Amino acid sequence: MKRKLLSLTAVLLTATLGFAQTLLQTRDAKFTIGDKPEYKQTEFDDSSWRNIDMSRNWDHQGVDPETHEAWYRIHFTPGNNDKKGEYIVFDLGSIDDVDETFLNGEKIGQTGTFPGDKEGYSTAWSTPRRYFLPLNSKAIRWGKDNVIAIRCYNGNQPGGMYGQGVSVRVADLADMVSLTNKSATVDGKPGSKVELSCKLPVNIQGNLSLQLIDLADGKVFDSSVRKLTLRPNKPVFAEMAVGDKENTCFVATFTDKKTGQSVKTVYEPKYILTPAAPETPRFNTVPVYGVRPGSPVHYRFGVSGVKPMTFSSTDLPAGLFLNPENGVLSGKIEKAGEYPFTVKAKNAKGEATQNFTLYVGDDKMALTPPMGWNSWNCWGLSVTQDRVISSAQALIDKGLADYGYAYINIDDAWEAPERTPEGKIVVNEKFPDMKGLGDWLHDNGLKFGIYSSPGDLTCGGYLGSLDHEQQDAESYNEWGIDYLKYDWCGYNTKHVKERDRATVSSYIRPYLHMEKYLREQPRDIFYSLCQYGMRDVWKWGRDVDANSWRTTGDIVDTWPSVLEIGFKSQKGLAPYAGPGGWNDPDMLVVGKVGWSDNLRDSRLTANEQYSHISLWSLLASNMLIGCDISQLDDFTLNLLCNNEVNAINQDVLGKQADLVTEDGDIQVWARPLSDGTIAVGLFNLGEEGTNVNLGKYYKALGINGAAGLRDVWRQTDLDTSKPEWMIPRHGVRLLKVTPRK
Ligand code: GLA
Repeated sequence: MKRKLLSLTAVLLTATLGFAQTLLQTRDAKFTIGDKPEYKQTEFDDSSWRNIDMSRNWDHQGVDPETHEAWYRIHFTPGNNDKKGEYIVFDLGSIDDVDETFLNGEKIGQTGTFPGDKEGYSTAWSTPRRYFLPLNSKAIRWGKDNVIAIRCYNGNQPGGMYGQGVSVRVADLADMVSLTNKSATVDGKPGSKVELSCKLPVNIQGNLSLQLIDLADGKVFDSSVRKLTLRPNKPVFAEMAVGDKENTCFVATFTDKKTGQSVKTVYEPKYILTPAAPETPRFNTVPVYGVRPGSPVHYRFGVSGVKPMTFSSTDLPAGLFLNPENGVLSGKIEKAGEYPFTVKAKNAKGEATQNFTLYVGDDKMALTPPMGWNSWNCWGLSVTQDRVISSAQALIDKGLADYGYAYINIDDAWEAPERTPEGKIVVNEKFPDMKGLGDWLHDNGLKFGIYSSPGDLTCGGYLGSLDHEQQDAESYNEWGIDYLKYDWCGYNTKHVKERDRATVSSYIRPYLHMEKYLREQPRDIFYSLCQYGMRDVWKWGRDVDANSWRTTGDIVDTWPSVLEIGFKSQKGLAPYAGPGGWNDPDMLVVGKVGWSDNLRDSRLTANEQYSHISLWSLLASNMLIGCDISQLDDFTLNLLCNNEVNAINQDVLGKQADLVTEDGDIQVWARPLSDGTIAVGLFNLGEEGTNVNLGKYYKALGINGAAGLRDVWRQTDLDTSKPEWMIPRHGVRLLKVTPRK
């Protein structure tokens, strides 16, 4: 019975039920450079044109990369038996940069604008092209040769079509309607709001059904069905209160009366596992911190509890100062060594103390992975100083700083288009006062991060540091920078010219170059390499004195991305991480993200987000929050501020987890902790909830059973005699295991 109910999940989560009748699926086309109006005609003889692959830009296929104008032609014959349904869909993949598309000489679509258009040239290089034509259109020649002719304009390299090639098919319901959901408040409770709309000029009759289901036993908590006629440009809305219980699932289904096809959207309600913090002071940060001799100290003790709170120390080493109001430690110490002292935090409810050690030494930076915020995953290139300040202020006000989040890092897009005549880098109009921003962050015990590239340009097309490394490092020092993300990107152009791509040293050289100037500055600048893992950067990151190195390309807020970047790419990297240098699987994709002015909730479900944060903690990864903190909701706040989960990430032993065993969809990741226990993540990567027994993996974990078991998210001790739990689809059980002696 249980098995049957659990597999219900898989059925529920199948996004679309329908069919799509394919008329054409190909990557091959005829191709020519140049631009003549007759190229669009069916009868035009293209037999002398060359063949080309539409899934790759023409630059990779022997076409002069400077080419601006070109045409593609694709032939196909739709059979008379294919004449079913109402619309035909043409999926063309993406096109660099502008296209005008014809079927048998008749225009069926355009994306972007050509230099000759009245609006002038504008690129739409990343937009997938999808055009529709009614099935009864005269443009379609049933049973005969048809030609799709695509006129392209390329503004900048690379050029032409790329993606999956071209497909033509009869539109199914999922092509014609869109059904989405988002979280909403319904009757004062957590809920989901559904929007159903028609993308084509047709009326569709059908049923919209909503269901709230308990995934543990299949029980339906609430449901409704509504008959409707969906009309173009008249979206239909529906909503349901879904609560905040673990393992529930809200499903909205629209079924087309005529064809019986249906589309679904699924929402897993968010649920909070982290228990509320006590009102009394509680130290949440590890009792160690390291700086280089003579570097300024900017450190904030992370203590939760009701405010106001006061901080004191009776044995503070000479040269240090503790701000009694916010727990910010400042000052500097010239002599290498270990400096232990005690800090007391007090509020109206009680007090707490921490025995702390400040390590001073050339090799003492980044003793634990950095925690903080970066602007990229939320604001992308539209970051501004005000947006940085509002996230930094919220980091303090919402209490994230009480859990050790300290870095405030500006990613790309702070740079002005030109340097001064002397070659100094300058900020653009969005950042009126870098030095002031740095001072304000430091006064609050936060740290200031920035972004650049060893190339002439950054990934976003802003100025990089090439040939100005020393000047830039000096500017960073003037502004009070504590973290540099140094992103390969534009260096590619130079690297190709070097013609020595085969040597690892050519990958190391630009990073070594900047390292010299960074380390000459009289302050500690966390050195974060970003080159997507090329040439096994984890093997030589420490040789360029880096404090972390990105191991992969960019993360996005989807489960396939978390699977690829986290679960797949981090296997086997554990030996390379440790105090001073960390593997970086990219920033967190929780909360409101969007890489632009338009932010939206992370597309990861609640369970996927628990898995994401659990894995990143186990991996001793950089914990850089990627969302707008000023808009942080309770769910995300509790996800990021669980002191026991964060303690795994920050454990002073600095041993990263590795994959211990893989058992079907279950992956077991584990790392030893400094207190002799083992942190274990039991992940269910499958599409169905399933029961997992930890005992099965004791041998793989190298232990002879558990003397103690703690559920880290829920912060409760568990019964060691029954180490079995239901782990939901894409979910996790994060444990601290005390091995039996
Ligand atoms: C690259 C990096 C991202 C971000 C952007 C900025 O894609 O991998 O993390 O820094 O550049 O342009």
